Amino acid sequence: MREDFDVGADWHVADPYAFLARLRERAPVFRSEHLGAYVLTRYADVRAAYGDPRRFSSEGSLTISRSLTTETKEKLGEHGSFLSSFVANVDPPDHTRLRRSVSKAFTPRAVAAMEQEFRRLNEDLLDRLAPRGHADFVTEIGHEPSVKLTARFIGVPESDEAFVQSHVKDWFQLFLSPQPPERQLELAGSFLTYLDYVDRLVAARAKDPKDDFTSLMTSLIGEELSHREVVELISTILLGGNDTVPNQLGNTVLRLLREDAWPVPPPLVAGASEECMRIDGASLGSFRYAAADLTTHGVDIPQGSLVLLSTDSAAHDETVFPDPDRFVIDRPNAAEHMVFGYGIHFCVGAALGRLQLRTALEVLGRRLPGLRLAPGQEIAYRRSIVGRGLPSLLVEW
Ligand code: HEM
Repeated sequence: MREDFDVGADWHVADPYAFLARLRERAPVFRSEHLGAYVLTRYADVRAAYGDPRRFSSEGSLTISRSLTTETKEKLGEHGSFLSSFVANVDPPDHTRLRRSVSKAFTPRAVAAMEQEFRRLNEDLLDRLAPRGHADFVTEIGHEPSVKLTARFIGVPESDEAFVQSHVKDWFQLFLSPQPPERQLELAGSFLTYLDYVDRLVAARAKDPKDDFTSLMTSLIGEELSHREVVELISTILLGGNDTVPNQLGNTVLRLLREDAWPVPPPLVAGASEECMRIDGASLGSFRYAAADLTTHGVDIPQGSLVLLSTDSAAHDETVFPDPDRFVIDRPNAAEHMVFGYGIHFCVGAALGRLQLRTALEVLGRRLPGLRLAPGQEIAYRRSIVGRGLPSLLVEW
């Protein structure tokens, strides 16, 4: 097979599915030179690997800080290994302890209580935008309600939201995508400002607790968590909550408009959002390290190798989802996709993500039933190894 798993290539970003189907059939364990990783593409293999954290380790799997220059590392000091105790980045027993703490904030009751707030944020936004008749869905509609909800969940005061948002964007860039040296230093400065802010927020909640995530995690310092872990957990929620849901919503709206399925009748919203997550998932997969020498489908994976579990391919596996490239609004088993992962690292925010997606589709469908794509635009997904999202989507109504 001459093609590679090249997430930088236009064809791969636009439509990798014929290629992934060939991999599933002929090379279910594929060594990608481009990624420097083995890629698992069959549903059963991806699921089995997620379910076997002893052999497929998460330790350090997200740490891109390897690409930082010495100067940037010096500037960051002890923070150079930020995210090293990120919950998605560690194995048991640390994972079990961190996960137990973070889960306390995501009880079904706490998640359900966020629905009204999220609905109101969407209604407020549409009150402002609806008279205009057009917008960039991604930058003007998709992000704001999720970003505001996440900030309130954490306990960031409204007056600080814009400040936090701009610094969070900077540190995502610093730690999650390779940057040129000069830019790294700039981003590192911004990151230190962000850390200082979170430190002050934690100190304020230690003195005067409120009903928010920061207060709950701060109350566990000393017993279950260290100060640094609390700062990282807050950052984790910003990472998980700020971008993935808006990306999934943008992908979902594009799919529904293209399939002539807008607005979705309320009884079909839950199923439609699962099918959209399956067919255009905002996450493409997860990385793991082989914790031992492994052999799968006759291919040797040496200990220490990086392995990509391609949930995007798994979601298009014809043995699980018949006619996988076709959008079926009420596909009976659509929710078996693994866009939220699977196993011990299964997305802690999955219920909240689903709730936001359904609520947004319901409110948007009711308020903007005539939504359509603006003519003459070029629509292309961002280049990314692990995420799928649109930089822009022009719509009219
Ligand atoms: C549609 C939206 C979302 C998608 C597609 C998504 C996807 C994922 C995936 C694939 C994982 C597993 C990572 C792995 O196994 O390596 C994960 C874990 C995680 N997600 Fe999400 N997520 C979403 C929304 C959220 C939200 C709203 C939050 C928080 C408010 C969140 C917080 C987390 C956290 C903390 C983890 C780590 C869990 C662990 O390692 O135990 N996510 N997410």
